[in-house]
Parts: sequence; C-alpha cells; structure tokens
Amino acid sequence: EPESISDLLDRLSAIVPDYPAEGISFKDLTPVFADPAGLRRIVDEVIAPFAGQFDVIAGLEARGFVMAAAAAYATGTGMITIRKAGKLPRPVHRDEYTLEYGTGTLELHRDDVAPGTRVLILDDVLATGGTVGSAARLLEKVGAKVVGVGVVLELAGLGGREKLAGLKVHSLQLV
Ligand code: PRP
Repeated sequence: EPESISDLLDRLSAIVPDYPAEGISFKDLTPVFADPAGLRRIVDEVIAPFAGQFDVIAGLEARGFVMAAAAAYATGTGMITIRKAGKLPRPVHRDEYTLEYGTGTLELHRDDVAPGTRVLILDDVLATGGTVGSAARLLEKVGAKVVGVGVVLELAGLGGREKLAGLKVHSLQLV
C-alpha cells in the first residue's frame, strides 16, 4: 500500500523540542526537502488541487522558495519571489503584517506579475496566516488573481485558515 502523505511527513520530518521557544515543538521540514522522493511528493501533492488553474507560482521567502521553484519547474510555469523588506532591487509594492511579536514587511516587484495573472501562492507552513495574507494583498495590488494557497504544514489553533477566509487553502498535514 502506498505511504500516505501524513506518514511520509511524520517519517521524514525532524521534531525539535523547545524551538524556537520553550514549550514549542517545531516540525522541521528540511529533511523532507533533502529526500528525493519526499521533495517530489510534497510538491506534487501541494499543487494537485490547483492543476490547470494558475499561470505562475509565488513563493514566500525563504522556505516557500523551495516549494515554489520546484513546483514552477515541474509545471512549466514561472516563479515569483515575494521577499522580506529590502531585498528586491527594483521598485516594489510593500505590505506590513502582524507577527506574534511586532510586525514584518513583505515586498513584490511592481512589474513581476502582469494584471490578470492567475497566481498560486506556496509556502512551507501556515501559522497565523499573516505572511500569506500579506502576500495576497501584494498580489492584489498588481491586479493579479490569487487562485489558491498551498502549504505543507498547517498549524492548528492559530487562526490562519480563518484569517484567509475567501482563499482556497490546501495543506498536506494539520499539526
Ligand atoms: C515562517 C514560515 C511561513 C510563516 C508562517 O517563515 O516559513 O512563511 O513563518 O507564519 P504566519 O502564518 O504566522 O505568518 P518566517 O517568517 O520564519 O521566515 P523564513 O522562512 O524566512 O525563515
């Protein structure tokens, strides 16, 4: 019988106790990325529900870049980089979002996405939804249409899915 995606994630992920803070158990996906079958499987499964619905894939710095670049290559589309403030060299749109403590800022080049483009957003983890929400606002600013959001892990109880009401969110595992 083929291994379920949840079993694969449990087998390959590394659980790190008390990271990034006391009492938090962190599920590290880097061993999944490092495994050839693991990487292929998570990328294929994250994009599956959106097949044929997007023109380009947006990756969110930094771990979302791994997912988005692989998925763009696999589907023959291009990849958009949505970055932390100060990294992109040309004129940008900027969006500030709330973090657990303080705020973060994401940027998108003003001309990397043409108006009307159908965009799939990919990241590794959905927690509070602040990051994906910010990315969606940036894409709306350039007139793109966000067709969905794909993540590997969805952290339970942090309200991410609720915050993104109106967007189709596909996660591979709820943790
Ligand atoms: C992590 C993760 C997501 C985001 C999820 O990234 O990779 O992008 O947090 O959290 P949220 O749903 O509460 O916004 P982080 O900001 O740690 O950046 P990094 O990938 O550059 O380390």
